[in-house]
Amino acid sequence: MAATRNSGFDDPFYQPADKFFPANNNIGLTFDDITLATLYSEILPRDTQLDTTLADGLHLNIPVISSDMDTVTESRMAIAMALNGGLGLIHYNLPEREQLSQVSRVKNHVHGLIQEPIQVSPDQFIGDVLAMIEQKKFGFSTFPVVDEKGKLVGLLPGHVVKPRYAKRKISEALQPRAQVHTINQKELSKDPIARADKFFTEHLGIHKLLVVDDKDHLRGLITLNDVEHITQERAAQFKPARDSHFRLVCGAAVSATRNAFGELDKKRILEHVGGLVERGVDVVAVSTAHGHTKGVGDMVRVLRDAFPKLPLIAGNVTSAAGVEFLADCGADAIKVGQGPGSICTTRIVAGVGIPQMTALYVCARAAAKKKVTILADGGITKSGDIVKALTLSEAVICGGIFAGCNEAPGDVVEISGKLYKQYRGMGSFAAMKAGSAARYGHDKNPAQKVAPEGVEALKEACGSVDRVLAQLIGGIQSGMGYLGAANLAQLRGKARYIRVSPAGMREAAPHDVVELKTGN
Ligand code: XMP
Repeated sequence: MAATRNSGFDDPFYQPADKFFPANNNIGLTFDDITLATLYSEILPRDTQLDTTLADGLHLNIPVISSDMDTVTESRMAIAMALNGGLGLIHYNLPEREQLSQVSRVKNHVHGLIQEPIQVSPDQFIGDVLAMIEQKKFGFSTFPVVDEKGKLVGLLPGHVVKPRYAKRKISEALQPRAQVHTINQKELSKDPIARADKFFTEHLGIHKLLVVDDKDHLRGLITLNDVEHITQERAAQFKPARDSHFRLVCGAAVSATRNAFGELDKKRILEHVGGLVERGVDVVAVSTAHGHTKGVGDMVRVLRDAFPKLPLIAGNVTSAAGVEFLADCGADAIKVGQGPGSICTTRIVAGVGIPQMTALYVCARAAAKKKVTILADGGITKSGDIVKALTLSEAVICGGIFAGCNEAPGDVVEISGKLYKQYRGMGSFAAMKAGSAARYGHDKNPAQKVAPEGVEALKEACGSVDRVLAQLIGGIQSGMGYLGAANLAQLRGKARYIRVSPAGMREAAPHDVVELKTGN
């Protein structure tokens, strides 16, 4: 039997990274340029482990991070990512104070408790509520009713939110306070879900439990649906990513802010990152388009000196020298990717950047030497790309894949009957004007001549992060099963590569059929 597990006939064709990439050193390769060879396997996809350690004290249960982009990651996305075992990096195109409260929201998130439920006031009309549901595309129609001081007045039940009652005032239609089921937030104890679960079992037919404080101010909402969902999830394979205090993990991006003299504004940076640390941030990312620069190096050094234990991500780079530089400055994890992103135009505008698989190989070897980790950032459009990226990196960072999710910032827009969400590059003109210019080495003052390095685009709305991640994780696990890899370290150790011809690439996608349903 053992003889069938490996054969010398394979070796000249399917090569490990250290042979394959140096042998292809005259061409930049990306995901679709290569494919992975399968290996003898005793591993079932469902038994594979996807946990990854990015730095001391930063451990994820799945190797997937949502990008620090203003159309991808704010607190809702970061919460969804962490609940699924991954990480969200909150972008920095927002006032510093607002970024701090976004981090607090993630760190204080109690799964199942909607902390800021959508509320209505007694003076509004049912027609107003219908318009809000339509505009925001809410999938629910029951709302707590509060007065101008946030005090609970009642509950507007879904069965009266109908066009026929549009002209009625909410005060006429609400279920009065005395009849609304509530719980004091103090009673929620350590395990709010178990407490709510008990409540719903004891109260036949009640689907909503409102949380109030001692003064009867609305503090949250728990729904039976969520509780049931969570109870099922507790048996799930991939647990939420949490810190040592059982809070969800959260990352935040910071930029290399400069003062009026063009020097790094150390005071402001340290105050801001100090605030993030106080709120419990698990990792800070120094995010720029060109990480192998004095400015980024200085910034990483300043943060490393001030916060010796804080996990630091820095980037982006595509060279071994860049990785070594940032590692020497004190970064723990290095973002690799210049121009592969779905909204990026860096390669077109600036003529620089390296196709992602070659960049990852070169950077991974430097990272191993420096004992830092690598994050494959950008260009991922399908789970197979993630499998390939993970053969050379500890995690992937994705923007476009999540930008159409419910949890991404921004409203859904309808165009010719299809639903979309906005997705824009942080180097696009609009994003730079909103604050991200420093990331691309420009001034945000529009009077200055700037060259945008990203586009403003739309992504088709694609439902919840849970759904998208379920697809991606299924794909990663399949890939690992094909390579006989029980965990990510084995995947990195076992991968063997071969280049794909244009005909091979066509062969890889559905062909010569009339497709009735897409694969996802
Ligand atoms: P995907 O392919 O996942 O890429 O949509 C997301 C990554 O792209 C980077 N990024 C940019 N790169 N111009 C660029 O050249 C931009 O405007 C831009 N905005 C984001 C970033 O690394 C992100 O994670």
